[in-house]
Amino acid sequence: MAYDTPKVPNDLSAFWMPFTANRQFKKNPRMFVSADGMYYKTSDGRDVLDGTAGLWCCNAGHNRPLITEAIAKQASELDYAPAFQMGHPKAFELASALRDMAPEPFEHVFFTNSGSESVETALKIALAYHRVRGEGTRTRLIGRERGYHGVNFGGISVGGIVNNRKFFGSLLTGVDHLPHTHLPDENAYTRGQPEHGAYLADDLERIVALHGGENIAAVIVEPMAGSTGVLMPPKGYLEKLRSICTKHGILLIFDEVITGFGRLGSNFAADHFGVMPDLITTAKGLTNGVIPMGAVLATSAIHDAFMSGPEEAIELFHGYTYSGNPIASAAGLATLQTYREDGLFENAASLASYWEDALHSLKGLPHVIDIRNMGLIGAIELTGIEGAPTKRAFDAFLQCYDKGLLIRTTGDIIALSPPLMINKAQIDELFGILDTVLKGLK
Ligand SMILES: Cc1ncc(COP(=O)(O)O)c(C=O)c1O
Repeated sequence: MAYDTPKVPNDLSAFWMPFTANRQFKKNPRMFVSADGMYYKTSDGRDVLDGTAGLWCCNAGHNRPLITEAIAKQASELDYAPAFQMGHPKAFELASALRDMAPEPFEHVFFTNSGSESVETALKIALAYHRVRGEGTRTRLIGRERGYHGVNFGGISVGGIVNNRKFFGSLLTGVDHLPHTHLPDENAYTRGQPEHGAYLADDLERIVALHGGENIAAVIVEPMAGSTGVLMPPKGYLEKLRSICTKHGILLIFDEVITGFGRLGSNFAADHFGVMPDLITTAKGLTNGVIPMGAVLATSAIHDAFMSGPEEAIELFHGYTYSGNPIASAAGLATLQTYREDGLFENAASLASYWEDALHSLKGLPHVIDIRNMGLIGAIELTGIEGAPTKRAFDAFLQCYDKGLLIRTTGDIIALSPPLMINKAQIDELFGILDTVLKGLK
């Protein structure tokens, strides 16, 4: 029997929603029922401008024909193939396409299904890499305060967002954290990379002195920290991290789950900053968020270290049932084609300064204490309400939604990351609504 999902379901109790105030939401639900281009449609028939590319993932916008057609075609042609000891052409094609768009040293691709899984995969590859080379003492992992690396145990252990960690026990052992790079006194209202803070990378030398470099496997950072509220790397910071890692034989992992696929106007943040890590984690924009998929990009040096035992032996005891799933692979190929054919990364790069000016025009509005940006990313930091942290930004979120704009908030920070197909009129629309909301915010 055909079953039409009602536009507004009348029982919301069963679905335990992720990262959501469930009880509050279910009293006053906000439902999207369709999406096209830059806009969502709500269950009450309103258009809402997507100021966040969903969750930083729909970089090509919504309902893109190449992607939807590729998914339908693939589903009827080959819906699933076993991922272990079997292959299918699209996963290989997508891996080659990723290699071709990645910075030069990245020759190999390991498929996952999410950013969280990409992080776990990269951490495991780093540990195993040292071990297969006979440096098995390198077991320690270094993350950073305020880092977000997904929600699995490795990711929350190296991550640095307190609420994502404090409920979940002792986490991984052998993890240290670099200090975060938020220096509001020195760097407020910076456009692009802040001037101050490169010295914060020197803390890695302190950690090396404490544990011995020969015991450290990898450092993982977001080259631009997104989920914590958009923190740009200070000038010279990533270069310093790179050189300290190289000096001590420590692998550097860039978590590019947000920054990959054009968000900064280049393929990857590694290109944008001109700093090459050893592993890159991706997800989100890889399939335009349409089908879950992630990927870890590895250099030949790392990959080849595993290719030394007998040929019939499995080289890496890791993988997922859905690694390189045919439909996800087809979606990924169509997504990359859409980015290319529509020149979306170029659009992001060419609109970055218009975006920057529009964003910084909000300086001086009530409660605004910092504004920062890079590529098609922006953040507006507000003062919190005394005794009710996060409420002011969340009120802004609710009011924006009512006025037809989707924004995202973390603490009292508003984060913006629209699809890369945005145009100037839509940038004006976005900041017009935000301006009105911020002016009226209590
Ligand atoms: C930098 C970074 N890493 C990992 C993740 C986790 O990705 P997922 O939610 O797909 O597991 C995210 C999600 O926002 C992220 O921003």
